[in-house]
Amino acid sequence: SLDDYTFEYKGFNFPKDEITPECIDSLEDFEIRDSDVFIVTYPKSGTVWTQQILTLIYAEEDAAEFKTTYERAPWLEFQEKGQDYNARPSPRLFASHLPYYLVPKALRNKKAKVIYIVRNPKDAMVSYFHFHNIMVKMEKTKDFSSFMDKYVNGKVMCSSWFDHIKGWYSHSDQFEMLFMTYEEMIKDLRAAVLKICTFLGKRLEDSAVDKIVKQATFKNMKNDPRANYEFLPEDVMHKDRGRFLRKGTIGDWKNTFTVAQSEFFDKVFQQKMKDLPLKFIWD
Ligand code: PPS
Repeated sequence: SLDDYTFEYKGFNFPKDEITPECIDSLEDFEIRDSDVFIVTYPKSGTVWTQQILTLIYAEEDAAEFKTTYERAPWLEFQEKGQDYNARPSPRLFASHLPYYLVPKALRNKKAKVIYIVRNPKDAMVSYFHFHNIMVKMEKTKDFSSFMDKYVNGKVMCSSWFDHIKGWYSHSDQFEMLFMTYEEMIKDLRAAVLKICTFLGKRLEDSAVDKIVKQATFKNMKNDPRANYEFLPEDVMHKDRGRFLRKGTIGDWKNTFTVAQSEFFDKVFQQKMKDLPLKFIWD
């Protein structure tokens, strides 16, 4: 079952404090601009990394100074109090964990751009397990097996990894969408930044690209107070239980999964993903 912090609405699990059913309903008609860019992910797949990359790509044309990447690319569905997204200057950037069927309908008509980032689910799951531990309100699961059980059954915030990926991937032709993997960003960050620039129609000087790549490395972001999410307040994130930017690698799941857990997950994966041509890098 779900924890006290979470509620289900329209087939998706949301955090109670940050969001209401009315807010989700109102997103359907949220006004979209051609220049809007949406970063969409299942949790722990490279959202803040992409927030940083986009913030840096747009930095020169931003009239206003943004204190953090969170402020530059706020969550669409967690409309912060006192924030009026309609009043924001273009180009607007947003982050979202929404499933494809709950985003503003104008997005589905290819108005504005979507960058969807996917990460191999074993690493995303381990990252999510640790994230539950550092977030004050998220339910702490005592062992990884129990967490995996919830994860594969979609009994976590944002529901099932499988449904999220399948939904977005199989409806990608309805969106103006760039589909990228966390692993390709790790393997060649410069190529990933250039791919994003091409998709956005941005032509940057080599030196500007170099600078972005440098500022978007894990090591640099971890020490960047505008990007490392340590700006989240104490009542949201425990400061003594770990960091938001934890490891930033491919294959860390091997340090957590037992052989039996890995085999079990592989079976579930094969069964649930059998119709999708997606290949992941696991290590
Ligand atoms: S969230 O809560 O859904 O917004 O989390 P999200 O940002 O999607 O995912 C967090 C994981 O991304 C890692 N990360 C990075 N990896 C490599 N390079 C860079 N620059 C980077 N920035 C963030 C972060 O460390 C989390 O993964 P884990 O495996 O826990 O380290």
